[in-house]
Amino acid sequence: MNLYDRIPNNVNLSEDKRLQRALEKWLPNFLSWWHDMGPEGFQQKDVWLRTAVDVGSEGWAHFDYVKMPDYRWGIFLEPSQADARVGFGDNYGAPAYQEVPGEFRNALRRIIVTQGDTEPASVEQQRRLGHTCPSLYDLRNLFQVNVEEGRHLWAMVYLLHGYFGRDGRDEADALLERRSGNPDKPRILEAFNQPCDDWLNFYAFTMFTDRDGKYQLSALAESGFEPLARTCKFMLTEEAHHMFVGDTGLSRVVKRTAQLMKQNPSEDVRSLGGIPLDIVQKYINFWFSYSLDLFGGEISSNSADFFAAGLKGRFKEQDQYTDHVAAEGSFTMLVVEDGKLAPREVPLRNALNEILRGEYVKDCEKGLARWNKALADEGLAQRLYLPNVRFHRHVGEYAGHYFDLDGQLITKEEFEQKKSDWLPTIEDREYVGSLMKPVTEPGKIANWIAPPATGIKGKPFEFEYVRL
Ligand SMILES: [Fe+2]
Ligand SMILES: [Fe+2]
Repeated sequence: MNLYDRIPNNVNLSEDKRLQRALEKWLPNFLSWWHDMGPEGFQQKDVWLRTAVDVGSEGWAHFDYVKMPDYRWGIFLEPSQADARVGFGDNYGAPAYQEVPGEFRNALRRIIVTQGDTEPASVEQQRRLGHTCPSLYDLRNLFQVNVEEGRHLWAMVYLLHGYFGRDGRDEADALLERRSGNPDKPRILEAFNQPCDDWLNFYAFTMFTDRDGKYQLSALAESGFEPLARTCKFMLTEEAHHMFVGDTGLSRVVKRTAQLMKQNPSEDVRSLGGIPLDIVQKYINFWFSYSLDLFGGEISSNSADFFAAGLKGRFKEQDQYTDHVAAEGSFTMLVVEDGKLAPREVPLRNALNEILRGEYVKDCEKGLARWNKALADEGLAQRLYLPNVRFHRHVGEYAGHYFDLDGQLITKEEFEQKKSDWLPTIEDREYVGSLMKPVTEPGKIANWIAPPATGIKGKPFEFEYVRL
């Protein structure tokens, strides 16, 4: 079969011999990676999946039964803009870069590789979840997320193959060689080395970690390197579903827990097979804090360099800001100085990671409001919350210090004492794990989660989303 039949695309693959040759070599390696590290146990099952087939706002996706290894991982970029310009930084207003500018080559490759590495990593993290799905609907959503992360890997590999030479091809190979959680060849970012081995982890991951992806992709969708901007814009259309899976998944867990709490006057949901809210809160604390790390250091010369070069912008750079140079101005944040929190003013461009993180936090708060509404609707007084951004951080100004959930500086000993109240313990994980029994009859749902409000693409919840 021709490569361009196998790979739906709008990048003129049939005309581009050099790109064809590179992808031809990479494709078998990708498929063998998918076979080894993709969803375990369901490769030969028919899954009702959407496949990107076009970039039009209407009908960009096609829904049908597909076996995952036959999924048509395509390469799609949003259409290019006539007269596209660099939208920010020192080269603001110059023609957008259509090729990799030599002076930014290393920075750009690093940005693309770091983004690309997250895509296969999450597939690896989630590869055994199919065995414990709470419903066929959820099983299908898991696989949808997995194949689309595979496509996002393709999107980044296209950029490496298409715009970089030998070093780009080497990096594309390395994306298939690192392994999530492997101490010898780990994935680049730590959130992507954490185990995601139960469905509460999966929902928290897609809520918080995929949402980091939304903000990184949004910042790159502003890029003056137009092929990157166009690629990321299209990835964002798929990413929305991933966050939907996490957001509604957690909402359904919370709703079910609330129902069980009402059934039992002592409010002990464990005896009824539910997930206690304090465990849900600990999972939120864990994934939210690891996801905050993904934005990088609060004070960052990289963020300043990437912005100056026109490579990585701010969230909604064009819609939200009028000064796209941002050469002046400052940003004040709290840092640890002499054992105390103290304000420090830094040049605006050095604070762009922190500013992007702030946008992300606002977005996460909306999810919390929805889950708390589910609690309120069930008549319960208890509420979930986000921990302070300083809590449990491993990257940036707060790494190496200890904070409570309110962001107050505490000692290591105090943290160790309270840790089991704040973060999932082995017992918590084992308890959640004990609830993870597969439910695979169409229309049936596990006891620890409420069914979704609607099915996918007009299909009812009872639809046979995966043929087992
Ligand atoms: Fe992705
Ligand atoms: Fe995603």
